[in-house]
This record gives sequence, C-alpha cells and structure tokens, in this order.
Amino acid sequence: MEKSYSHNPVLSSEVIDFLNPAPGQTIVDATIGGAGHSEQILQRIIPGGMLIGIDRDEETLRLASERLRPFEGSFKLINKNFKYLKEILKDLGVNKANGIIFDLGISSIQMEAWQRGFSIKNDGPLDMRMDRSQTLTAKDLINRLRETELSDIIRDFGEERFHRRIAKRIVEERRHKEISTTAELSDVILRSLPYSHNKYKIHPATRTFQAIRIKVNDELGSIQEALNALPETLEKGGRCCIISFHSLEDRIAKNTFKEFKARGLFNILTKKPVAAKEVEVISNPRSRSAKLRAVERM
Ligand SMILES: C[S@@+](CC[C@H](N)C(=O)[O-])C[C@H]1O[C@@H](n2cnc3c(N)ncnc32)[C@H](O)[C@@H]1O
Repeated sequence: MEKSYSHNPVLSSEVIDFLNPAPGQTIVDATIGGAGHSEQILQRIIPGGMLIGIDRDEETLRLASERLRPFEGSFKLINKNFKYLKEILKDLGVNKANGIIFDLGISSIQMEAWQRGFSIKNDGPLDMRMDRSQTLTAKDLINRLRETELSDIIRDFGEERFHRRIAKRIVEERRHKEISTTAELSDVILRSLPYSHNKYKIHPATRTFQAIRIKVNDELGSIQEALNALPETLEKGGRCCIISFHSLEDRIAKNTFKEFKARGLFNILTKKPVAAKEVEVISNPRSRSAKLRAVERM
C-alpha cells in the first residue's frame, strides 16, 4: 500500500466539539485509519491522556503509527476488530473511556490501493478484506454463493433494485470463467443492467460492490456488537460519536441509541444526524454521504 496521509478526517470539527477531549482523558478511536481524527484528539488530551487506536487492517496501523510519532507514549494501537471493544479495554487495564469515535467503512487509503480490491475504478484482485489475515474474500463469495444468496446480499446490503438480474448474470458468467478482478465484476454488473451506464447518478456497480464488501467483512454485525458494549465501556458523562456512510449503518446507530435512551443509559446529543457543510463536501467528496450521531453516557 502506498504511503499516503492525504486522508482528510470527515466532520472533524463536529467530532471534536461533541467529544470535547481534555488533557488526561482516555479516548478510543475505534477506526483509526489514517489517524486524522486521532491526531486532533491527541493534541487535546496531552499531557497525561491516552488514545487507544483500533483498526482491523494491520497495514493501516503502520501508517497511523508513523503519523502519530510526535505523540509517542500517549497512544496505543490495537490490531483487532472493534467488536472486541470491551475485551480490548480490559486487556489494556482500562476500566472505561471518556470518549469513543467510530468513523465507519473503509478509508481513502484502502479504497485507492488497487491491490486491496475495493475499487471499481482501479482494477485489482477481487479481495475486499479489511483484515488480510481473514480467509474469506469477495472472490469466494462471487464465485461460490448460490444465485439466491447473491441476490439477497445485493438487495439487503446494497439496496440495489436490480439484485436479481445482477446475481443471475454473475452466475451465468462464472460458468464459463471464474470472476477474479474488480474490473471483471464491474463489467458483468454493467452488462446485467437494463440502461446504459450514463443513466445512473453513481457508478452502476457501486451498490453491488458495497454489498459484497459489507458481507466479506461482516460490517453490520461488528457495528452492532461494538455499540452494544457502549454502556459498559464509557464513563459517566463520556461521549460516543459515530459517522456512517449509508442507511444500513445509520439505522443500527439510530435504533441502538434510541433503545439506550429508553433504558435511561444515554442522552442523545443529535436529534437529527449531522451532515457535512457544503465547504467540506467540496474539499472532501467522501463527506457527502456522512452522517454523524452523538450520545452521552448518563
Ligand atoms: C473511514 S476509515 C477511518 C478514517 C479515520 N477516521 C481517519 O481520520 O483517518 C475506517 C477505518 O476503520 C477500519 N475498520 C472498519 N471496520 C472495522 C472494524 N469492525 N474493526 C476495526 N477496524 C475497522 C478500516 O480498516 C479503516 O481503516
């Protein structure tokens, strides 16, 4: 993966406003990625504070540790799925954190690295694993699942209305030859759709790629597990911010927070999800679909 620090953290001033990090605090960045949010948090929690940065992608953690070198001694990096949040804190001897941030999905660093197979634009192997020690890849799903299973995944995780056509075409194509690259998959999807490419607002393969990526990485299951651990992992008055990029993620956050509020565990700080301002969207297109929700432990 290329060395790159170009990733601009999404909704960063809003995240800082909600988390309100202060010297001496312990803050968890559950999705450290390029460490953009972490760098800003560290500037506010030193001296005496500790940032715990989690990422299931080992290569990403190497880049994060380089970026955070000036803060050596004030952060710990953990290569695990954030669904193990409770265990991670316990292993570090941390009782509870003062703040937790989740910035979901994949980073631009991962997206731009063709070898990782997330990108429709840069051809690469059909991989899509955030954690490369995992055995299951996108290629396995695309070439092995039954047509109905593929169709359901593309419908449920991609909210793609042409899920049946796409699944049918994938199964027809793979009878002749295994589908092994992102360009091959994108091409099969394009040929399965009823309209020509330029009729669509987004690339016509976007939803299917999203669906397969979510399934490969069990993204929704991990989010639910991590959020379920919030009551036991946040100090009283501690805050959690979650930035999501599609409705499936946002729905999990919204419903979980609603339930926490009903049980008297959390206050909701964002009645409606906070979106990026126009100037941010212009300078960082990835922020266009971002939605931030924040809660406070009671
Ligand atoms: C959008 S990026 C975060 C960018 C980061 N906030 C920054 O400022 O650079 C999301 C990161 O979270 C990681 N990630 C996604 N799901 C994860 C999970 N379940 N457990 C641990 N890390 C995860 C990805 O590997 C990726 O590096």
